Amino acid sequence: MTHARQHPTQVVAHRGASEDAPEHTLAAYRKAIEDGADALECDVRLTADGHLVCVHDRRVNRTSNGRGAVSALELSDLSTLDFGSWKTRDPLGGRGEEPDWEYGPEDREATSVLTLERLLELVADADRRVELAIETKHPTRWAGQVEERLLLLLKRFGLDAPGAPEESPVRVMSFSARSLHRVHAASPTLPTVHLMQFASPRLRDGRLPEGVPIAGPSIRIVRSHPAYIERLKQSGHQVHVWTVNASQDVDACVALGVDAIITNRPRAVLDQLGR
Ligand code: G3P
Ligand code: CA
Repeated sequence: MTHARQHPTQVVAHRGASEDAPEHTLAAYRKAIEDGADALECDVRLTADGHLVCVHDRRVNRTSNGRGAVSALELSDLSTLDFGSWKTRDPLGGRGEEPDWEYGPEDREATSVLTLERLLELVADADRRVELAIETKHPTRWAGQVEERLLLLLKRFGLDAPGAPEESPVRVMSFSARSLHRVHAASPTLPTVHLMQFASPRLRDGRLPEGVPIAGPSIRIVRSHPAYIERLKQSGHQVHVWTVNASQDVDACVALGVDAIITNRPRAVLDQLGR
C-alpha cells in the first residue's frame, strides 16, 4: 500500500507520550500532539454498558486507583477513577526530571478514563493532521461488538469509509486476524494492521491475512529477523514496528525502511530523525 505521508518514517505515540505522562489519558495524548507526533496509538476495550474506552490491561488495577475488569465496570464507575496518580508515585517521573505533563486540579479530565469518542474529538480539534492507530483488545470475546461499536463511532466522525486506504487518517490494528477481517468486511478501504509479537512461518513468507495491507511486527522480530522485514517491504506491505524506544532500534528501523515507528517517546524519536 502506498501512503500519502509527509515523512518517510511516521512517528506514532504509543498510548500517547506514555514515557512522560500516564498512558491512555488526555494528558498523554495532548503531550504527544504538542511533541509533534504524526499519529497516536490507543487500545480500546468495551465497558459493561457498551462504551469504548482507551485502556490497555484487562483490569484497571495497574493504571488507576480502582480495581476490576473494564468489561465488568460501567463508564460511570470508570469515571470516578484517577488514571494519573500511579505515574506520579515516582515524583521525578523515573528519569531524574520533573514531569512536564502537570495539570491543574480543575483539569480532572486530563487523567480521567478516556473514551475513544473523546480521543476522536481531540484529534478532530488538532490544528494539524494527526492520525490514529486504534488497537482492538480481546475482540474475540465480544463476538464482533468491539468492531461494530468502533465502526459506528468512526462513522459519526466521518472516518469509517475513506475514499482510499492511503487517505485514511485512521487505521485499525489487532493481534487477532478475525478482528481485522470483521473490520475489512464492513469497511474495505479502512486500513488494517496485523500485529505480531513473534516471528512465524507466515511472516517468513511475507504473507499477511487476506485484505490486511500493513504488518505490525514487534521490535523483537526486527532485531532477530531483519530479512523478514525486507521481504514484507518487497511484497509491497507497509511495516509499522512497536514499541521502539532505544536509539539503536530507531536506527535499525530507519535502515530497513520501516514506515512507522511506534514509541513511548515521540519527541526523542523525532529529535533523532532530525525533525
Ligand atoms: O502498537 C502495538 C502495540 O501496542 C501492541 O502491544 O501490548 O502495547 O498493546 P501492546
Ligand atoms: Ca496497543
